[in-house]
Amino acid sequence: MNGQRDPGSSIRVAAAGDLHCRDIDHGRFRQFVKQVNEEADLLLLCGDLTDHGKVDEARVLAEELSALRVPACAVLGNHDYECGKEQDLMHELQKVGVRCLDGDSYVFQKVLGIAGVKGFGGGFGRGALQAFGEPQTKAFVQEAVNESLKLERALGRLDLPKKLVIMHYSPIPATIVGENPEIYSFLGSSRLMMPIDGYGADAVFHGHAHHGTIQGTTDKGVPVFNVAMPLLQRVRNRRFYVFRIDRPSIEETEFSARGEGAVAVGP
Ligand SMILES: [Fe+2]
Ligand SMILES: [Fe+2]
Repeated sequence: MNGQRDPGSSIRVAAAGDLHCRDIDHGRFRQFVKQVNEEADLLLLCGDLTDHGKVDEARVLAEELSALRVPACAVLGNHDYECGKEQDLMHELQKVGVRCLDGDSYVFQKVLGIAGVKGFGGGFGRGALQAFGEPQTKAFVQEAVNESLKLERALGRLDLPKKLVIMHYSPIPATIVGENPEIYSFLGSSRLMMPIDGYGADAVFHGHAHHGTIQGTTDKGVPVFNVAMPLLQRVRNRRFYVFRIDRPSIEETEFSARGEGAVAVGP
């Protein structure tokens, strides 16, 4: 692309996961929201928004996030499912304008698409659990397959020059390094990487691995960031990660609008 680009023109994306908000946490995220308002154009939340999936916890978090002055979108994590109230949680967050993604996408300023899923575990590469044997094993594997298919559909519909992915579980093993290897299989699944590498993305953000590693890449080189808040606080003394993405040139935007930017999915 030869398009002229204003060198100062980038979209500042704040990303964080694993807020684990409790019903006693009034005020805990006030400073976080203030900093996001000052430093970012958009906030992405990568699951485990609540500590036990209670509606009261979501109400407290929604109250905190109501001070946001930038758009926000989120996926849920495993903790948000603990009480079986995930729909109610999403409703509380949506009341304050947080767009909750589950196999769908959010479009920021007509140029940046964010596809989101929760994801699931099952392990990586040759060590991934296979759908063989007991029905319970097959059901476990199927959840990761379903999440991967949801992400594939969401990315497939995003015909935009810039794309980001948010999920709770990790699509690669590199960003969970630091966790106990005995639990690697429960922290993510390489099945989630397949649609990312098939359709392409500018970056992926996930949480869940509180003791993992901040940065890695997919097999095809897409940057992946583990933005679990406890990890960012420990390693960077920060509560969110800021990713800068160049605003696309006019040529890139028009190319995409004509449908020529669509990428075919591999087998
Ligand atoms: Fe977590
Ligand atoms: Fe989690």
